[in-house]
Formats: sequence, structure tokens, C-alpha cells
Amino acid sequence: MADRPTVARTVPSLRRALAPFRDTGERIALVPTMGALHRGHLALVREARRRARRVVVSIFVNPTQFAPHEDFGSYPRGFAADLKALQTAKADLVWAPSAEVMYPAGFATRIEPQGAAKAGLEDKFRPHFFGGVATVVAKLFTQTAPDFALFGEKDYQQLRVVTQMAKDLDLAVKVIGVPTVREQDGLALSSRNAYLSAAERSAAPLLYRVLKASAVRIKQGEPIEMVLEEARAEIGRAGFALDYLEARHALTLAPIVSRKDGPIRLLVAAKIGKTRLIDNIAV
Ligand code: PAJ
Repeated sequence: MADRPTVARTVPSLRRALAPFRDTGERIALVPTMGALHRGHLALVREARRRARRVVVSIFVNPTQFAPHEDFGSYPRGFAADLKALQTAKADLVWAPSAEVMYPAGFATRIEPQGAAKAGLEDKFRPHFFGGVATVVAKLFTQTAPDFALFGEKDYQQLRVVTQMAKDLDLAVKVIGVPTVREQDGLALSSRNAYLSAAERSAAPLLYRVLKASAVRIKQGEPIEMVLEEARAEIGRAGFALDYLEARHALTLAPIVSRKDGPIRLLVAAKIGKTRLIDNIAV
């Protein structure tokens, strides 16, 4: 059994824990998370281990990316189980600051990403979200100064925003996207799946089925807007409240009309009962 990962809870103790890695020139990979770890998160840890000698996993439920009406208070938390999973996955270091350590009294800086962060997808329904994500991820990057940072394609817009931010701020970190890990029936793993009732859980895989079928039809040359309209109707009939289903440029997330406009990504967000699910797929 691997050793338990070291847990750092303050910036000085994080620096102390990282110093020996840096002194010996070992590459460091960071996996930022909000905990409640599942196989999706652990796939990022595995990819991190492939890339770097040392793996740091941050666990921080970031208050600034939740709106007051959202689920910050009830977001699943389970530090002991997370630590055990990270021991098995052979993470070296867990960075688990409190909100007071991350945002001490007097904290007064916020990063407001533009571009992909204003694509009219998640940002339209969670206007506070990418500012909160970019600010905390910038801090995580400067705190740990990793060579690599791993993010899931599951949160595709977030992956694009963070990639652009690292580039724009000249942060010497290579952001790497990792494919979405799914249940056998196609549902993307998410900490929020724990909120689903049995009936909602059995309806939930429809989102990915519709994405897959739509991607095939678009690849075969059917008109994009027609395919999307039919898919939106099918999602509605299955009892979801659809926030969006869109075809976008895979890198800029700008709207596209035809396949000639570039590599396409389909992105969807929909509520089933009280739970909001997101997913996406390459065309
Ligand atoms: P969280 O939702 O905990 O996700 C942490 C990372 O795991 C993200 O990069 C996310 O895309 C990835 N992930 C989640 N489910 C996945 C799945 N099924 N397959 C592959 N990867 C998956 O995303 C956040 O936290 C936060 O916004 C954070 C980046 C930590 C900033 O607070």
C-alpha cells in the first residue's frame, strides 16, 4: 500500500511540502477538485501520474463559483474517503486549504475571463461561475506552480477557459484535457449524480444518447440546426428542462452554422428534477 499523501492546509506548509520535489527537479502535476472524488477525478490523477513524478490534488469547495441560490452548502463533502482514494491512486500531496486560507480577510482581486467564458453556455445560466473558477484556478496554479494541470472534458467550457487563462497570464503550466469517464449506460460521472432519485437516475443517460446520435447525424451531413431542434424536442419529451443544446467551435466555443466552420463540439445542460446535468461530445 502506498503511503498516505501528505496533507497541506496552509500556504507555508504547501511550500514546505513542494520544496523537496522542486529541489530535485521532479515534474509536478496538479489535479484541481472540489472533492467527493469519483472515478472521473481518479482518471485525472492517473493521467497526472503518467505525466509527472509528483502529483498534487487540491480539494477545495470554492465558494466564489457558487451563486447564493446554488448548492454550496449541500455540495457533497467526504474528506476521509477522498484521502483514502488518493492514497490508492498514489497521489503525493493533498492541498486542502480552508476558505479563510484561500480568501483571507481583505482579499480583493478577481479574474474575469472573456472569450470562451462569455460563449452564452454555462455563463448564461451561471454568470458568476467562470470568474470564480478562473480566480481560484489562477491561485491554485501560482500556489503549486505545476508543470501540468489536468482538467476533465466533462466540464468542457471550463477546460477551454482555464487553458486560455493560463496562456493569457503566461503561467508556465500545460493544461491537459482528459476524456469524460462515464457509467456503463453513458451517464457522465459527476458528484452531483448523488442528488438523483432512482427515476431520475434511470432517465439521465438519455442526454448522452441524444448527444451521440446527434453527432453521428451531423457527421453524416444533416443540417446542424435541424438535428439540434429534434434533439432539443426529444430531451424535453424525456422530462428534462433544457438550458441549452448547442453546436460550437471546439476551441473558441463560437457559434457555428456548418461543418466547414471548424471542429465541432456539441454541449448540453439540462435539469432533471432539481439536479442540473451537463455533458458534451466531439462531432
Ligand atoms: P470538480 O467538479 O470537483 O471537478 C474536478 C475535475 O474533475 C474537473 O476538471 C472536472 O472536469 C473533472 N471531472 C469531473 N467529472 C468527470 C468525469 N466524469 N470524467 C472526467 N473528468 C471529470 O471542476 C471543478 O471541480 C471546479 O470547478 C475546479 C476546477 C476544481 C475549480 O474550483
